[in-house]
Amino acid sequence: MIPFNKPYMTGKELWYIAQAHANGHLAGDGQFTKKCNAWLEAHTQAKRALLTHSCTAALEMAALLSGVAPGDEVIMPSFTFVSTANEFVLRGAVPVFVDIRPDTLNIDETKIEAAITAHTRAIVVVHYAGVACEMDTIMDIAHRHGLLVIEDAAQGVTATYKSRPLGGLGHLGALSFHETKNVISGEGGALLVNDPRLIERAEIIREKGTNRSQFFRGQVDKYTWIDVGSSYLPSELIAAFLWAQLEDAEPITQKRVKLWKTYHDAFEKAELLGRIRRPIVPEQCSNNAHMYYLLLRDLPHRTRFIERLRAERIQSVFHYVPLHSSPAGKRLGRSHGDMAVTDDVSDRLARLPLWLGMEDVQTEIINCALGAV
Ligand SMILES: Cc1ncc(COP(=O)(O)O)c(C=O)c1O
Repeated sequence: MIPFNKPYMTGKELWYIAQAHANGHLAGDGQFTKKCNAWLEAHTQAKRALLTHSCTAALEMAALLSGVAPGDEVIMPSFTFVSTANEFVLRGAVPVFVDIRPDTLNIDETKIEAAITAHTRAIVVVHYAGVACEMDTIMDIAHRHGLLVIEDAAQGVTATYKSRPLGGLGHLGALSFHETKNVISGEGGALLVNDPRLIERAEIIREKGTNRSQFFRGQVDKYTWIDVGSSYLPSELIAAFLWAQLEDAEPITQKRVKLWKTYHDAFEKAELLGRIRRPIVPEQCSNNAHMYYLLLRDLPHRTRFIERLRAERIQSVFHYVPLHSSPAGKRLGRSHGDMAVTDDVSDRLARLPLWLGMEDVQTEIINCALGAV
């Protein structure tokens, strides 16, 4: 079977893990965590980057930092992964789902303002497939209404909007290093704190509600419990693995982009014939090639497409079950306006394998896909 995903290793991971072992510091915030945080700050322009054990954990920290309370509302797309909503629901907030744009499949910025009520506290944007949302418009809306913007940039590492890195544009950003992402540590993530007013509390929340980070920097002479919090630090073994990947983030991206372009060129004709629609990357967005997807004509075509590929031993997958139509989404959230694009796209989208090392089998995948559209 040609798998949908295959984690890529740079070859340096075990060497750095051995170094962490030799350093004798295995808990969080050792040398490798510091290197990763510094890399993220340098490459995202975040005021503070804090490694976490997942993007979900980073979003949970963002929800705590946003101060949302029961009954508050948070605007977000429905076409996303559950963690975008779940972490705010954990704080008692209500996700308010807004439809997506038909081109990028990102939240439709023209529909956000109408969804704002007296209870709205934040907007969570998702940069789908690593392609940026229309951030200038969204930040302008947020400033005018006094709302916090949190970027779910789980898929967005190394991608940019108007040359500015994703995750560094809102008040807070969350990255994922899950093994399905471009740069990985098995499980892993980071919170990017772009609003300096949130840095101190972010450090406290991440360290079980204590001021332990300040203590280690010699800023206080003892550390103690001062706020709510939890344990969001990854161990040094994870950070060591991640460091090997971050060092190669650029070549990894370039190689992914090459594979993405090969797909894109190969499917151009089928798009002109009206059989499929290819991904659209607006001019102001750079592409980190996180994902290659096709939009088929309708649900029966998509089902047949995935089955045809499976018969040829090629794994193709679809997503998302829109949150507004999921059992928990119906119970815990609400939609503002219709979800026509979300419903349509989630029926028609199929993702193709995209992983470093698939160069030898890409032609086979393309030929099979072209025969199935
Ligand atoms: C948009 C989005 N948000 C959040 C997550 C959660 O990331 P993690 O698995 O690192 O918690 C994912 C993971 O697939 C994602 O795609």
